[in-house]
Amino acid sequence: MTFTIIVLPGDGIGPEVTHAARQVLDAAAAQTGIEITYKERLIGGCAIDRLGTALDEATLAECQQADAVLLGAVGGPKWDDPTAPVRPEQGLLALRKGLGVFANLRPVRVYPVLVDASPLRPERLQGVDLLVVRELTGGLYFGEPKGRLRQDGREGAVDSLVYWDYEIERVVDLAFQLAAGRRGRLASVDKANVLETSRLWRQIVQQVSRRYPQVQVEHVLVDTAAMRLVTSPAAFDVIVTENMFGDILTDEAAVLAGSMGLLPSASLGGRGGGLYEPIHGSAPDIAGQGIANPLGAILSAALLLRYALKQEKAARAVEQAVERALQEGCRTRDLGGSLSTRAMTDAVLDRLSLED
Ligand code: NAI
Ligand code: MG
Repeated sequence: MTFTIIVLPGDGIGPEVTHAARQVLDAAAAQTGIEITYKERLIGGCAIDRLGTALDEATLAECQQADAVLLGAVGGPKWDDPTAPVRPEQGLLALRKGLGVFANLRPVRVYPVLVDASPLRPERLQGVDLLVVRELTGGLYFGEPKGRLRQDGREGAVDSLVYWDYEIERVVDLAFQLAAGRRGRLASVDKANVLETSRLWRQIVQQVSRRYPQVQVEHVLVDTAAMRLVTSPAAFDVIVTENMFGDILTDEAAVLAGSMGLLPSASLGGRGGGLYEPIHGSAPDIAGQGIANPLGAILSAALLLRYALKQEKAARAVEQAVERALQEGCRTRDLGGSLSTRAMTDAVLDRLSLED
């Protein structure tokens, strides 16, 4: 079996961490007997410099055809001028939109050996293993009308929160599937005491839940969910929520793990195999020094193996190799250690085995 992956290293530490992820993918592929062909393309600031656009149409078309897309990060001080006609994030938005990825998955695991890296009390972090599924292409960030208002010499602004039944159903259905494959618990997060979109959301969750009798559903108001994420995070399995609530809750959940550098994400839906990227940005403060934590990108590669290439065994092997490396004390600087990006990657490669 041969798969094509488009790699978009991007800016800052993006190239450093995607290189690490590729090495691990190659090792996993070799042990699994699959073949991967990579095509490296430009996105973000480097694409603006070279092509005058943050993502050109030819690259987007290749991404749509590919089995999966692996991304590093985009942006940096060089392109930060808010009045510039093109900005790096436009590449990301165009990519998500062009791929039709409507569900953003962020798994958060707290490794027992890393409970001290988190600001939370260790006893609260024992057993945290949750997955946030955020709706990515609808809601407040896309609703019309949006813009400025003027009336009687006053200036106002409006954003619109709009959801259609099909937009809710497809992401909720995916969340149920994922919950069925995990511990069978789904928390649907909304603000149904105030928002009409949330009442529709709840109604659809109820309907979809009939197809998944094995999944136990709970409706949680977003303010309560925000509290429970820090008071009893281990009680969550899968969380599904709309775009803006998800934006906020995913960052809150990320804090549990102790470092941004550790966490992966997958964006699924649409026709293609999805988009895989670490949750961190381009980290200009440490770019080019070879010290970035590659684990977020490596764990994103594991998600790519799982969801795009359907290589569950290889995906688990990568996750176990990461866990073993951490357990045996391997740490990059963000985790209080001194390993370089390359040494951490080697530590994972040394422990990667599909035998057990
Ligand atoms: P950031 O995630 O790049 O960095 C935040 C802090 O975490 C920095 O101190 C950085 O050194 C550290 N850090 C991040 N990833 C790390 C890793 N793998 N290993 C070790 N330390 C790591 O967020 P920031 O500083 O707010 O943004 C920097 C640039 O990245 C901006 O231009 C921003 O727009 C862009 N960005 C891009 C994203 C993307 O491409 N998806 C997401 C977030 C920000
Ligand atoms: Mg955010």
